[in-house]
Amino acid sequence: MEIITTVPELQERIMNWEKAGKTIGFVPTMGYLHEGHLSLVRGARRGNDIAAVSIFVNPKQFGPAEDYNVYPRDFNRDAALLEKEGVDLIFYPSVNDMYPAGYKTYVKVEDLENKLCGSSRPGHFRGVCTVVLKLFNLIRPDEAYFGWKDAQQVIILKKMVEDLNLPIKIRPMPLIREKDGLALSSRNIYLNQQERKAALVLYRSLELVESLIKDGERRAAKIRQQMIDLISAEPLTRIDYVEIVDFQTLDPLEAIEGDALVALAVYLGRTRLIDNLRFISGVIEK
Ligand code: PAF
Repeated sequence: MEIITTVPELQERIMNWEKAGKTIGFVPTMGYLHEGHLSLVRGARRGNDIAAVSIFVNPKQFGPAEDYNVYPRDFNRDAALLEKEGVDLIFYPSVNDMYPAGYKTYVKVEDLENKLCGSSRPGHFRGVCTVVLKLFNLIRPDEAYFGWKDAQQVIILKKMVEDLNLPIKIRPMPLIREKDGLALSSRNIYLNQQERKAALVLYRSLELVESLIKDGERRAAKIRQQMIDLISAEPLTRIDYVEIVDFQTLDPLEAIEGDALVALAVYLGRTRLIDNLRFISGVIEK
């Protein structure tokens, strides 16, 4: 496994692989890897000649009051995990490599970027799209793997790839949960014992949605209100949003008729967790 930290070295390595006709599967990450990331890496490993992973905590996707400085980092542990998965390349650039002094170019997927997480994290998806497009330009993958845990991110990046005619397949992979239902996230380590226990109400609210849908309920307002009531009954939670939206436009739905995304963001203390359920072609995935 090769670890490359600079752009020119990376470009040379990628050019050699392209010349040799190798396909590249890419997993962009911010490190502090968990099973969710590793499932993406396994997808990239299975589907391609080369499996490449980037580890870069992207300052442009954090707001000024957010956790950029304290975001968990452990490169040596991540590298050991990736080596075990048979990864060929880790790209581990510095902030200055990605955004040298005078950097000025940003990518926005209009409208979609302001909804759901975008409304409480202004500029977040502009930062995500910018770094992902830069990484795509550098690594030139055939396929890029993302988790459904960040459903809005997947939907926005698919749109960016479509709108900019990028020759890259976005491969969304299933959301991975702890045994008790908590969605895996690098931010789960911020939770204390009580918050960790209280956080299970997020999954319970999605189980509630599933059973309501299975019982034939389709009115979004009714489903949403029951979720809010359940989550609010847990005193350690503070709801950022609970929304039921169209899967393409992310506009609120009156009824779950076509494909829908049930998405939520909830604070447990100072930790903001997100989770979701997807209702696609009549099938529930969570
Ligand atoms: O999902 C993430 O970890 C990040 O948003 C990503 C895609 C690596 C961009 O920094």
